[in-house]
Amino acid sequence: MPKGKPVKLVGLKGDSPAPPRIVTGLAELDRVAGGGFVPGSGVLIGGDPGIGKSTLLLQALAALSRQGRRTIYVSGEEAIAQVRLRAERLGLADSGVLLASETNVSDIIATLADGEPPAAAVIDSIQTIWSPVIESAPGTVSQLKAGCEALVRFAKQAGTAMLLVGHVTKEGQIAGPKVVEHMVDTVLYFEGDRGHQFRILRAVKNRFGPTDEIGVFEMVDQGLVETPNPSALFLGGAGERPSGAAVFAGVEGSRPVLVEIQALAAPTAYGTPRRAVVGWDSARLAMILAVLETRCGLSFSGRDVYLSVAGGLRITEPAADLAVAAALISALADKPLPKQCVVFGEVALSGESAPLAVRICG
Ligand SMILES: Nc1ncnc2c1ncn2[C@@H]1O[C@H](COP(=O)(O)OP(=O)(O)OP(=O)(O)O)[C@@H](O)[C@H]1O
Ligand SMILES: [Mg+2]
Repeated sequence: MPKGKPVKLVGLKGDSPAPPRIVTGLAELDRVAGGGFVPGSGVLIGGDPGIGKSTLLLQALAALSRQGRRTIYVSGEEAIAQVRLRAERLGLADSGVLLASETNVSDIIATLADGEPPAAAVIDSIQTIWSPVIESAPGTVSQLKAGCEALVRFAKQAGTAMLLVGHVTKEGQIAGPKVVEHMVDTVLYFEGDRGHQFRILRAVKNRFGPTDEIGVFEMVDQGLVETPNPSALFLGGAGERPSGAAVFAGVEGSRPVLVEIQALAAPTAYGTPRRAVVGWDSARLAMILAVLETRCGLSFSGRDVYLSVAGGLRITEPAADLAVAAALISALADKPLPKQCVVFGEVALSGESAPLAVRICG
């Protein structure tokens, strides 16, 4: 190995001003990114097929180009005509976003480096790009690595915010498991339930901001519309709440969110009662049922129990325990919860707060 030379060491304190953020103006996106994109950073946006990744990023680039910034959208998946068609439908055709359909990473970088470097560029998707210096086929791990590395290196040199689209595998990981995630500064996941119109953008890694913020959008014909008040989506229908419905007051990032939790306790037709959950953890439901039976003297043994979070949201907060308990008790007693009542709190195995749910339900 050749002998190296020592590099200059510096202190932690120094004059390195925080770079100005590239703010798209799509508030839900900017917030999840940590207050806009950082120039010279690599951002990976993952999500299931058809969830709206291309739509979101085209809207983001269009918003930036309307601010007079240079933006480039490289599609390796769709032909120019397809992207144009989407732009037309979204009303973004006149926005000034520059378009290319290319998969060779060397050509892509040469294109990005030609002229004034773009403030932001989208590569849609990293699974389609290939590097001519690597022998393996496109989509393989070594191709993915080489392509991403080259693009992120270019981003750092040019000060471009490099937005990379990544497809998620069946296991829910961005294909080429974790291979790419460590190479970029920020990893965002775009999620949603196909049966529902809302989409959630979540940061799973961010070197420039918190990771507990979510951005909520609604998918309509004209593209993704921001939802500054997500509670409206997750509260189910307006008006009287039936028995078995409880409103959970949770926190997503810096915002409170109200979500309706719905439970049904139907008489069992078979020997073993069913327990089915949508949007919550089934093991956690089993625990709450056990606590209610053991500590509060309620019996769900002859009942099939169904639990669902309205709007298709997935809740992981332990604070939803008490709302689930209240929904279950209300369903069992067939008695609606009081109006204007929100519930939150963790339920311990000792059952400490469980009687509270019984009291709420009257
Ligand atoms: N003509 C249309 N009218 C309304 N909504 C549409 C129309 N075409 C597509 N969509 C919506 O846009 C979604 C596809 O968005 P988009 O292509 O941005 O997703 P994607 O995540 O990039 O998908 P892919 O994985 O195929 O690249 C569709 O699932 C649909 O909800
Ligand atoms: Mg796409």
